[in-house]
Amino acid sequence: MNNKGVTVWLTGLSGAGKTTIARRIEAELKARNYQVEVLDGDLIRTWLSQGLGFSKKDRDINVRRVGFVANLLSRNGVVVIAAMISPYQEIRDEIRAINKDFVEVHVNAPLELCEARDVKGLYAKARSGEIKGFTGIDDPYEVPLHPEVVCESGEETVEESAKKVIGTLEELGYVRVAVEYQI
Ligand code: ADX
Repeated sequence: MNNKGVTVWLTGLSGAGKTTIARRIEAELKARNYQVEVLDGDLIRTWLSQGLGFSKKDRDINVRRVGFVANLLSRNGVVVIAAMISPYQEIRDEIRAINKDFVEVHVNAPLELCEARDVKGLYAKARSGEIKGFTGIDDPYEVPLHPEVVCESGEETVEESAKKVIGTLEELGYVRVAVEYQI
């Protein structure tokens, strides 16, 4: 298969659903025979970015590494789905500038919802002061200014969000239009 690669950059708060949506997009595109790779923040931090913390400097290094790897893969025809909080607009713009084919997706769940879900128990720890500098609590999240897609993950199902993203990839010509979805 000789398709054009692209970097799909999912940004949003912890617990907003980035990983779940990324995995759903991955499953659909793999079923359509695309080469896909997911670069997930939590996983990246256990390998490629092991030892980095959550200061602005460390987050920027982390995000830059993933942007670099995404470029290596996507320029070779891979659909890369990055799922990273990536809270700063400036660094997201930098990643966009080095990735010619780049689709920014804001996974936009309200903080209250992410905190209420608190899948990993980290919001509770951030509120009690056990974790410092937690995004959305005592560290900033800069809402994307010009994302290609906004997934309202507090209101939409995972399938709806994944379809929105894939629909945009189809419109932009990165993915051929499919009549039937696998998801
Ligand atoms: S980023 O800011 O550098 O893009 P990344 O997506 O890699 O963040 O990692 C975020 C994950 O790290 C969260 O989903 C959460 O599980 C964990 N985490 C631990 N400490 C923090 C923190 N202070 N702020 C945000 N996430 C944290």
